[in-house]
Amino acid sequence: MADALQELDRDHEDFRALLRVLEKQLESVRVGADPDLDVMEDVLECCEAYVEECHHPIEDLVHALARGDRALGGELREDYARMHALTHGLLAVVRDLFQDAIRPRETITRIGRQLVAAFCNHMQLEEARVFPAARATLSRRQWARIDALSRRVRGQWRVAPRWFDLREARQS
Ligand SMILES: [Fe+2]
Repeated sequence: MADALQELDRDHEDFRALLRVLEKQLESVRVGADPDLDVMEDVLECCEAYVEECHHPIEDLVHALARGDRALGGELREDYARMHALTHGLLAVVRDLFQDAIRPRETITRIGRQLVAAFCNHMQLEEARVFPAARATLSRRQWARIDALSRRVRGQWRVAPRWFDLREARQS
């Protein structure tokens, strides 16, 4: 398996860990306790920046080279739009809370649950259809192209380790 695909799998593991961190904060909101807004903002900024600017461009090339069917391409684009909207919606709420704004707890938990479900469904779709298609069809030369893109975009993201430090919080 190409290095890039292993790294995409590792990203998914990391994202699932980050989503569990977010779920823990959402549970605090649900039961009426104070969530850690810094942690929520860190997770959401990772969903926004790392996922959209590093992870997805690599997956887009994997899907394009594997010549995935059009319907699947449409589903992936719909997922992106939904994940983007939910991430920005929840980030806006969290930043309002930093300013001491009042937001109903139900609103925060509803958007948060939708966001977690959207990310999990999207990862399942990729693992069930995009990655297997790539494994079955891509040539060595195509994998080399994907690996090169992966190295380039990941090289630019080594500056944000704090997002992945959050993984440590997943067991606590
Ligand atoms: Fe992905």
